[in-house]
Amino acid sequence: MADELRRDFAPPQVDVEEAGRAMEQFARGHSTEGRRVVLVTSGGTKVPLESRTVRFLDNFSSGRRGAASAEYFMQAGYAVIFLHRHRSLFPYNRRYSNQNWLDNLRLVPASGGEEPRLEAELNRLPGIVEVLEDYKRVKETGRMMALEYHTLSDYLHLLLAAARALNPLGSSAMFYLAAAVSDFYIPASEMPEHKIQSSSGPLQITMKMVPKMLSPLVKDWAPKAFVISFKLETDPQILIEKSRKALATYRHQVVVANILDTLRSYVMVVTNTEEAKLSVSDEEERSGIEIEDKIINDLTSRHTNFIEQTSSKQGL
Ligand code: PMT
Repeated sequence: MADELRRDFAPPQVDVEEAGRAMEQFARGHSTEGRRVVLVTSGGTKVPLESRTVRFLDNFSSGRRGAASAEYFMQAGYAVIFLHRHRSLFPYNRRYSNQNWLDNLRLVPASGGEEPRLEAELNRLPGIVEVLEDYKRVKETGRMMALEYHTLSDYLHLLLAAARALNPLGSSAMFYLAAAVSDFYIPASEMPEHKIQSSSGPLQITMKMVPKMLSPLVKDWAPKAFVISFKLETDPQILIEKSRKALATYRHQVVVANILDTLRSYVMVVTNTEEAKLSVSDEEERSGIEIEDKIINDLTSRHTNFIEQTSSKQGL
């Protein structure tokens, strides 16, 4: 797969080797301290149509699922590698991402030889004190490592590097693949260099299938890890069937299935033996409860069972 990535995709725009080393060090350090480590992937992917890219194919993912989940994983004691798309939502500051920060600040002019100061309008920033405390604690304890990707190629290379870094942790590593990864791309060798000209008439492009990373991830890259994939559909009728098919094909542990219209309030956690419904009522939503809190609560206890089962199989 590493050869395939090098051959078919444009070179990554990030230093993958350096990122791989940093992830290895992060994973080893936390594992030595007895902490589980999860890779959270988050956000959409951008697929260029030209090599000097003017146009690209994108998808709707905002990164909210991944960013919120990263927070709940840390609350549950995990160390998190947060692999996210450039400018998608980020843990903690996601809560204020739709605000104009200039409206939240007040200028205290310089006086008596003091520099001017900035104060925040607390009433415009609900929950900011707790959020800031959590964020600072995470920074001080080094519990999260954030890595950015820009293109599909970056994502694929970084996922492989992350899998290599987490593989030594065995069953205590988790992969939580919430990113909405493109299924289609144009191979580097077939991509026009310059901007596609509209004077040539309607655009017809043929895109190739992106190889499913779940397959080598589960089989070769991190075969002992606890792996969660996501399935998004718009038609509820096919959701469970497609989730079961994914489990049978890739042989990983869990699919979190969601429908576009009810993304924030309802998911199904699908395993080989059950389908667990998780939902957030209107009342819960009003009191600030998020579906990701319930998802992570469910998955961390499944992870515990998985680790115990793995150890007992090995006679530990
Ligand atoms: O970011 P938000 O706005 O909060 O939205 C969250 C979400 C809807 C994007 C998220 O909850 C979600 O469902 N993500 C997965 C979207 C999806 O259906 O992906 P997929 O069917 O293309 O892939 C299914 C799984 O295979 C995914 O876990 C993906 O990581 C994996 N995959 C996909 C493509 C590929 N080439 N290799 C893969 O391994």
